[in-house]
Amino acid sequence: MNIILLGPPGAGKGTQASRLEAERGMVQLSTGDMLRAAVAAKSEVGLKAKAVMDAGDLVSDEIVTGILSERLDHDDVRKGFILDGYPRTVAQAESLERLLTQKGMALDHVIELVVDEDALIDRITGRFSCASCGTGYHERYKRPLVEGVCDVCGSREFKRRPDDNEETVRNRLAEYRAKTAPILPHYEAKGLVRRADGMAPIAEVNDAIEAILDGG
Ligand code: AP5
Ligand code: ZN
Repeated sequence: MNIILLGPPGAGKGTQASRLEAERGMVQLSTGDMLRAAVAAKSEVGLKAKAVMDAGDLVSDEIVTGILSERLDHDDVRKGFILDGYPRTVAQAESLERLLTQKGMALDHVIELVVDEDALIDRITGRFSCASCGTGYHERYKRPLVEGVCDVCGSREFKRRPDDNEETVRNRLAEYRAKTAPILPHYEAKGLVRRADGMAPIAEVNDAIEAILDGG
């Protein structure tokens, strides 16, 4: 099963993709994570992408499609993948179609997480993650079980993303509206789009996605 999780910044794409990875053995393909790894490694791609990401703009289609294409060549994606953060433009949706055809793969569903934009600033500015294993948390909606200690690896160090401030989030939302939302009609025309209420609690959103994957 190969799916796209689509939704604005803070809709819960990463949260749900990690759960599907843990529960179903699917592979999460987050272009945001790939780009952040390139920035951390100070690679050529990372050096080009850093300022663009910090401003909340979109990195060029060529760069992002290049890193995704390489990732799709790894054998593990054959277990089924969850695209999280790609495609983000009509050109990327077209490139994805070509890439999947070349590699003998296809999409099963495009799941749109439908959210109320007003809630997203609060979700994103309250977000933090474990500096050691990357597990995501939120100041109000998903605190560690033991205060100050990561549930998964026990680390006491946490970090925040540099693009998670209100000004940048507003720009990311504007980019989503202008460049990413227009890809929905492309997938609607193919009958691939399903919707889940992204405002429900995390576990309920997960159940709704699982029901779609199970053919409900
Ligand atoms: P990327 O990393 O993809 O960020 P994004 O799309 O802005 O998405 P987020 O990670 O902010 O949100 P999410 O939907 O994953 O939410 P999460 O699950 O964390 O991209 C970053 C940048 O990289 C872009 O701005 C761009 O520059 C570049 N980039 C990446 N891909 C690109 C591409 N294809 N083309 C061009 N440029 C690209 O949830 C948010 C918070 O809310 C968490 O704290 C979570 O605990 C909480 N939460 C989640 N669900 C719920 C719920 N149901 N109820 C309550 N709280 C919830
Ligand atoms: Zn951890």
